[in-house]
Amino acid sequence: MGYTVSHFEIRARDPAALAKFYTEVLGFIVSDRGVLTRGPAAGRELIFMSHSPDEHHQIVLIPSDARESSGSGIGHVAFRVDSLDEVRRVYEKVRVLPHAKPEPVSHANTWSVYFRDPEDNRIEVFTQTPWHATQPCRFDVDYGLSDAALKEATLRDARQLDGFTTTEAWQDAFTRRFAETAAE
Ligand SMILES: [Fe+2]
Repeated sequence: MGYTVSHFEIRARDPAALAKFYTEVLGFIVSDRGVLTRGPAAGRELIFMSHSPDEHHQIVLIPSDARESSGSGIGHVAFRVDSLDEVRRVYEKVRVLPHAKPEPVSHANTWSVYFRDPEDNRIEVFTQTPWHATQPCRFDVDYGLSDAALKEATLRDARQLDGFTTTEAWQDAFTRRFAETAAE
């Protein structure tokens, strides 16, 4: 069961300046941007950037209102794993840990669990669903459900969302965007 670093979240005091830096200097493209409507960061606009057609985002910027440098830096680091079983296994382990404060959620394209390590670093472990929706979005999921019931419940929530499509359709369109950018 491989763990691959997928993306990290940067708490940005000036998201526009950071987005400009990553796109203009390093060549990332903005895959999505929008205001979160749910969860602890509701009301904040996220900017998603990628340098790979295989990842919707490798960096996500979240605005930080803190002026001091402790309010900036890495918000969370996400590991992609290759099975829903592994996400469930991690969730079962962290839910009994007092420091972990687990959040079992889906971003339509993921089954995720966010949690805190013993020094309060925020970590996400996720696996891919067969679907995609415009980001950001999140809704709660119940890892107590069977695989079939979880898939059904996730699909029911995901298909209400803007930009709902299959992973393949989204991936094809996203790959074309990279090709177009390279051709410019
Ligand atoms: Fe994430």
